[in-house]
Amino acid sequence: MVSHPAIDLRSDTVTKPTPAMRQAMYAAEVGDDVFGEDPTVNRLQEKVAALLGKPAALFVASGTMGNQLCIKTLTSPGDEILCEQGAHFLHYEGGALGMVSGVQPRPLPGAHGILTAEQIDDAVRPSAYYYPRTRLIALENTHNLAGGVIYPLAEIRRIYEAAQRHKLNMHLDGARLWNACIAGGIAPAEYCRCFDSVSVCLSKGLGAPVGSVIAGSAEFVAQARRFRKMLGGGMRQAGILAAAGIYALDHHMQRLAEDHSNARFLAEELQTIRGVSINLETVQTNIVIMDIRQTGMTPSTAVDKLALVGVLVAPFGKTTLRAVTHLDVDHQAIPTALDAFRKVFSS
Ligand SMILES: Cc1ncc(COP(=O)(O)O)c(C=O)c1O
Repeated sequence: MVSHPAIDLRSDTVTKPTPAMRQAMYAAEVGDDVFGEDPTVNRLQEKVAALLGKPAALFVASGTMGNQLCIKTLTSPGDEILCEQGAHFLHYEGGALGMVSGVQPRPLPGAHGILTAEQIDDAVRPSAYYYPRTRLIALENTHNLAGGVIYPLAEIRRIYEAAQRHKLNMHLDGARLWNACIAGGIAPAEYCRCFDSVSVCLSKGLGAPVGSVIAGSAEFVAQARRFRKMLGGGMRQAGILAAAGIYALDHHMQRLAEDHSNARFLAEELQTIRGVSINLETVQTNIVIMDIRQTGMTPSTAVDKLALVGVLVAPFGKTTLRAVTHLDVDHQAIPTALDAFRKVFSS
């Protein structure tokens, strides 16, 4: 029997607001944001715009809404967008791309989620009336499906040069951009310089209960605001939520380094368990993907068995599981989680 609450490693989205964050939410000054009158939402937007080095920003309900609004704003129906084959919006956003933007994705195989400028050059369609029009490059940093891999800034810059050559826009799914920045010591604005639109999440590693922010030029944000309203994302006294985001940015950014060292320790120990295989090269931030095919267990069986001994992980493919470290898992929980993994995989 498990004598402690489950250690929840399914995702960094499972965090609960801390007492201090709840206090900040409670105290938030609010107004009607559809009238542009919520001072806390405005403060969050200005703060994120400044952090990302963009003229303007917009608070949105989720990372999915952020990605979809950015893509919608930068494309027209019938356009083609270049992306990596494991892009979050291809797999986990309910097929919204077709519904919201009417665009066609061109998924390209990256090395651990990372595309090269040469792949972009090769994939851009020549101009002919019967081809779709290549319009946008969408990158993801860190790359979730690849295991939290950081996009090398040098490659982003090369891709940006390719985008300039072909007159393409660039979008960044930066749901976990903060993790890349803390792990690599690179300022968010450095990454964002190459992108026309950026979406960042407050409700992943930063621990806010709800919300993402998109950023770009003033014209981009004005148009995205219109689309946000059309999709029902015009929120009213949203300052209660924005206050959590501001608190998270001020207090939970630097501690992401702890999540990264917890993930590293977890991965190094896990791969000593017989049958568990981890590519340690991909463990760069807070995500650990383990291949368990050699244990003879399916991911769903392993998930069930691990839950019985107090550890929650996510099935992440035909033979893989994902564990994510976050604010609500401190370093003392990792040895306890490892005991549970050993119990399940060594029995
Ligand atoms: C890379 C990436 N982009 C976008 C999202 C979507 O965020 P949300 O769950 O807030 O819609 C996620 C969620 O896990 C993600 O990992």
